[in-house]
Amino acid sequence: MPRNGRRQKGVNKKANSIRVNGIDLFCGAGGLTKGLEDAGINMTLGIDIDPACEYPYTANNEAEFLMKSVEDISADDFSEALSECDFKLMAGCAPCQPFSTYSQGKSDPTDERWNLLSHFARLVRETQPDLVTMENVPRFEKESVFSDFVSTLRAEGFDVFHEVVNCADYGVPQQRQRLVLLASKLGPIKLIKPTTPEGEQVTVREAIADLPRLKAGQVCDADPLHQACELSPLNLKRIRASKPGGTWRDWDEELIAACHKKKTGKTYPSVYGRMVWDEPSPTMTTQFYGFGNGRFGHPKQNRAISIREGAILQSFPRDYEFVREGEPVYRKTIGRLIGNAVPVKLGKPSVKPSCAMFAKLPSLVGGLGGGRLVGRVGHKE
Ligand SMILES: C[S@@+](CC[C@H](N)C(=O)[O-])C[C@H]1O[C@@H](n2cnc3c(N)ncnc32)[C@H](O)[C@@H]1O
Repeated sequence: MPRNGRRQKGVNKKANSIRVNGIDLFCGAGGLTKGLEDAGINMTLGIDIDPACEYPYTANNEAEFLMKSVEDISADDFSEALSECDFKLMAGCAPCQPFSTYSQGKSDPTDERWNLLSHFARLVRETQPDLVTMENVPRFEKESVFSDFVSTLRAEGFDVFHEVVNCADYGVPQQRQRLVLLASKLGPIKLIKPTTPEGEQVTVREAIADLPRLKAGQVCDADPLHQACELSPLNLKRIRASKPGGTWRDWDEELIAACHKKKTGKTYPSVYGRMVWDEPSPTMTTQFYGFGNGRFGHPKQNRAISIREGAILQSFPRDYEFVREGEPVYRKTIGRLIGNAVPVKLGKPSVKPSCAMFAKLPSLVGGLGGGRLVGRVGHKE
C-alpha cells in the first residue's frame, strides 16, 4: 500500500461504478485537486509550469503531474487521463497576476497571461468535457477575457453559472472572496448554498489554536513547516504593542514606520496587524508569513503565523506535505504555493451540484453500470 494509504495511481476504477475523471490545468500545489478528490472526483492529471509544484502535488494527491505550459498542450496530452471514465471534468485556476497589486489592481491588457484563459477555452473545445470548473479573483468577472470564456462555453453547449463567493461561507477559516465558475453539459448547474454562513464560519481559534507554541524565528521539532519568521527588535516591540484586529495606529509614535506617518501611508492600515481568535483569518496572500505584509500576526503569540498555519487557514489538511523530508523549507516558494492555492474546502461545493446531477441521471447511471459512484460522489451526508 502506498504512503498515506493512497491507492496506486491510475488503478482505482471499481467494477460497476460511475467514474468521473478530472484534470487540473494550472494545478499549483494541488489545493483545487485535493478539494475535488475529497469530493469524490478521480483526479488523474495536474499541469503546471512551476517545478516546485511537483512534490506537493504528487505526494498528496492521486493524480500525475505534467510540467508543461498550458499554451503548449493539446487534448492528446491528457487523452489517457480522461479515458476509462463515464464523465470528464476539466478544472483550472489560471494565474491572477495580470491584476498585479503593483498596478493598484488595474489589469494590463497586454499581459500575455490573459491568453492562458483562451488556451483553457481551446482545450475545452478540443476535449469536450462534461463539466468545467474555474476559480479566480473577483475582478476577473468584469474582464472581456472572462466573458469570452463564458461565451465559448455556451457556444459549446454548456450551462454556465458564475458567482463571487466568500470562502469563509464554505468551511474555510478565512475571508477570501473568489469568483467560481461551474459549467455543465448534463443540465443546469449552480453552486450549493453556503455550508458555513455568517455566524457559523470557522474561526482562527478553531483552525490553529492547538498548534505548538512558537517564538519568532523558531522551527517546531515535530513539523518543519510550523516555523515562524524572525522579527527584528523593532518589529518585536511592534507586535507586542499590536491588538487583535487592530492596526499600527494603536502603537506609540516611536514605533510607527516613517512611511505610515506620510499622508499616503495613512491609507494603508491593514499591515502589521494581529488576527482575531474568534473570526476567520484575513485573506492569505503569497507572503502571509511576514508580520509587515498584512494582518498576519498570530492572535496571541509575538510572531507572524507559521507556514503550516497559513496552509491550515487555506484549509489544506494538517499533514499536507510541501517539501521532501529533510529538504530545506524555502518560505518564499512554499508561501507562493500556499497563497496562490484554491482553498481545499472550496473544491467540494464546486462539484457537489454535479454529484447531485449524476445521482439524478438514473438512465445514464443504469446504462453505465449500476448507479454506484466512485469515492464519495453521490453519497448522502
Ligand atoms: C493561482 S495558481 C493555481 C493554484 C492551484 N489551482 C491550487 O489550487 O493550488 C496558478 C498556477 O498557474 C501556473 N501557471 C502559470 N502560467 C502557466 C502556464 N503557462 N501553464 C501552466 N501553468 C501555469 C503557476 O505556476 C501557478 O501554479
